[in-house]
Amino acid sequence: MDYMAEATQSDAFSSEIRRAGGPQSRYSTRMSLSVPPYVAPETMEVLYSTKQIADRVKAIGQQISEEYKGESIVLIGVLKGAAIFLSDLARAISVDNTFDFVAVSSYGRARVSSGAVKLIKDIDNPIEGKHVIIVEDILDTGLTLSYLRGLMLQHKPASLKIATCLDKPERRLVPIEADYVCFKIPNRFVIGYGMDFAERYRGVPDIRIMPENPPGH
Ligand code: IMP
Ligand code: MG
Repeated sequence: MDYMAEATQSDAFSSEIRRAGGPQSRYSTRMSLSVPPYVAPETMEVLYSTKQIADRVKAIGQQISEEYKGESIVLIGVLKGAAIFLSDLARAISVDNTFDFVAVSSYGRARVSSGAVKLIKDIDNPIEGKHVIIVEDILDTGLTLSYLRGLMLQHKPASLKIATCLDKPERRLVPIEADYVCFKIPNRFVIGYGMDFAERYRGVPDIRIMPENPPGH
């Protein structure tokens, strides 16, 4: 299956779950038809181990700490996927820093080539004149981050950079690069370390490849 189709399904599944009144209603006949079957993460191939992730996050934290020496920075995490990466990255950064979070809806992203991205939650505190780093889980087509970058630049920060845990350069639809990348990966759908498939697996501590044809289906 084309993994973009999977990503679209993932979004569709989550909104269907929300409309149906929460995850408990997945046991209804309608939900059991539409929610993808659970695949145990232990059966999935590990792409990056917890040790490999921790080493890269630490290195990027040190790089940021050197580059922003004597400054204060604002880390803006993109919910929900970046929450775990941000919490580790912040603890690897030794310069003064604060957090903020934004949330975007990727509804229609896979079908509308213009890339309809909508802001669901804005920043809580002003960033004018501040050194800002947007923290994301994956830079894929680039639609989300180019939208967010444009939005954040309107607030006139002193500087704006992007940190992403993963980068899938092959998938890019708009020209955008991250300043800090833990790993560049091939075009595979991954889960864990904050990343989901149909909202599952965010708590898986390593990064694993979601099988295209789950065993037994
Ligand atoms: P894009 O760069 O606008 O295409 O969107 C990036 C977003 O798509 C990420 O923040 C993820 O939420 C999601 N995404 C892209 N690839 C994957 C994947 O392999 N696993 C889980 N989520 C993904
Ligand atoms: Mg996501």
